[in-house]
Amino acid sequence: MIPLSLTVNGKKVSLEVEARTLLVDLIRSHLRLTGTHIGCDTSQCGACVVHLNGRSVKSCSVLAVACDGDEITTIEALAGLNGELHPMQQAFADCHGLQCGYCTPGMVMTAISIAKEREHLDPSELREELHGNLCRCTGYQNIVKAIVAGAEAMKQG
Ligand code: FES
Ligand code: FES
Repeated sequence: MIPLSLTVNGKKVSLEVEARTLLVDLIRSHLRLTGTHIGCDTSQCGACVVHLNGRSVKSCSVLAVACDGDEITTIEALAGLNGELHPMQQAFADCHGLQCGYCTPGMVMTAISIAKEREHLDPSELREELHGNLCRCTGYQNIVKAIVAGAEAMKQG
């Protein structure tokens, strides 16, 4: 077992994990933060996306021990203290950017990264940027709408 310390959703966490433990398993099984989903075993679906030191990563493709000293943010950290949704979450709700919701945590985490990195979001470029996040339900049209609206709302503060 390997000792590990990291910050998850603003809280310091110290624990021991096996060398083979994936970040997604640390988040879901050790920390019981089950908003981060597992949708494949091939690093393709993006349901497991979290922010690692502020950048989106597929947490199923990162070893937990590689995150010693790092800062992780999961979907659970987005809502405000009184449960008010993050602007990107609200936009997904308002624009019907989800159906079953399985892909949604990963989509929202990816969307926030894209919104922070881009001044202007072009819908066709956005579709390219989303190629690492698969959705079986929506056909993507409303996800793209939601991300454009959510990015605008994030800019407004
Ligand atoms: S579970 Fe990580 S990409 Fe599918
Ligand atoms: S809303 Fe069902 S997989 Fe995307």
